[in-house]
Amino acid sequence: MSTTLQNDLFIKAALSQQTERPPVWFMRQAGRFMPEYWEIKNKYTFLEMCKTPEIAADVTMLPVDLLGIDAAILFSDILVTAEAMGGDLSFEQGVGPRFSNPVRSLADAQKLAGAESIDKLQYVADAIKEIQNRLNGSIPLIGFAGAPFTILSYLVEGGSTRDFKRTKLMLNNEPELAHLILQKIADLTIAYLNMQIEAGVNAVQLFDSWAAALSWNDYRDFSHNYNKYILDNLKRTVPVISFAKGASVFAPLIVESKPDVISVDWNADLLNLKKSLPEVMAVQGNLDPFIMYADKPVIKKKIHELFERMRGEAGFICNLGHGISPDMRFDHVKFAIDTIKEFRY
Ligand code: CP3
Repeated sequence: MSTTLQNDLFIKAALSQQTERPPVWFMRQAGRFMPEYWEIKNKYTFLEMCKTPEIAADVTMLPVDLLGIDAAILFSDILVTAEAMGGDLSFEQGVGPRFSNPVRSLADAQKLAGAESIDKLQYVADAIKEIQNRLNGSIPLIGFAGAPFTILSYLVEGGSTRDFKRTKLMLNNEPELAHLILQKIADLTIAYLNMQIEAGVNAVQLFDSWAAALSWNDYRDFSHNYNKYILDNLKRTVPVISFAKGASVFAPLIVESKPDVISVDWNADLLNLKKSLPEVMAVQGNLDPFIMYADKPVIKKKIHELFERMRGEAGFICNLGHGISPDMRFDHVKFAIDTIKEFRY
C-alpha cells in the first residue's frame, strides 16, 4: 500500500523508518472547531453523518483540504461497535454520547450481540472505499475502533463519566460479568478492524481513552488482555497504533501486545519512553492539546521543545496527547500543523 502513496511519511514513521521530518495528524482533526464541520452538522445528526458514506467522506476530507495533515482519519466514532451490539446510542448537544439501555446485569449482557453484528457496520466499509476514492493515493487513511474497556465503560455507565463508578463496581463485584461483555466487544472489534483493513485503510488505531482510570492489575486483566487478543487476531498487513490515556504508565504491558506504534498522552517524556521500547516500536504524540488555547509563540515554543528532544529519532509521529476540543481556534490548530511541517530532522 505505502508504495503507491504520494505522501508516505506517516507509514514510514509508523514502521520506524527514517523520514525527513516527523509526520503529523491530530486526533479529532475533523470536528466542531471547524466552521465547515458545522455547515454539515447543522443538517444531520452525528450518527446520520457517520452512517452516510458520502457525508462521512466529506467530513473526513475537511482537515485534508483545510489543515494539510499527513494522514486522514475515518470520520466515525468508537461507539458504533457498541451500537451494533444493541446499545441504543444517541449524541445529545452538550451532553455527549448516551445509551438509553445501559448494560448492568447478566440479562443485559446476554442480550448484547457479538461478532455477528459486524453486518450492521457495512456502512463503515462503504465509507472507507468512498474516502479512498477521494484521497486518490495522496495520503494514508487511518481506520480505528474503541478498545473493549473504554467501550465497556460507556455501555455500563450509559454515557460519559468522570469517576467510572458503575464500571469499577462491576469489575470489582462481578468480574465474570465484565469479562462476558469485554469478550463480546473484543470479538466484534477483531471482525470490525479486519473489515476496515480489507476495505482499504492504510493503518488502524485502537483507542483506549479511559485506561488511565484503572489500577495496574485491573488494566492488565480488563483492558490489556483484550487489546492483546485483538492485536493477535488482526490481519497485520497495515501498521497498528495503540492509543491510551495512561500509555506511559502501562507501556511495559502495551509492548507485549506488539503494536507498531504506541500513542501516548502528554505526561510522558517522549524520548525516554521511546528509549524504553523495542527499537522497532514507534511513538505517537504527545503535545498537550491545551497549548492550542495559548498564544502562537507559545505554541511554537512547545512544538520546538518536543522536536528538539526527538531530533533524529526514526519512528516518531507528531500528534496531540488527546483530541482537539470544539472551542479551540482553527487558526491556532492550523498554525501548529504548519509549524510542525517546517521542522527538518
Ligand atoms: O479524530 C477524528 O477526527 C475522527 C473521528 C472521531 C470522532 N470520535 C468524531 C466525533 C474519532 C476517532 C472519535 C473517537 C472517540 N469517540 C473517542 C476516542 C478518542 C478520545 O477522544 O478519547 C471517544 C472516547 C469517543 C466517544 C465520544 N464521541 C464522545 C465522548 C463524544 C462527544 C463529546 C462531546 O464533547 O460532545 C463523541 C462525539 C463525537 N465524536 C463528535 C465527533 C466529531 C462530536 C459530535 C457532534 O458534532 O456533536
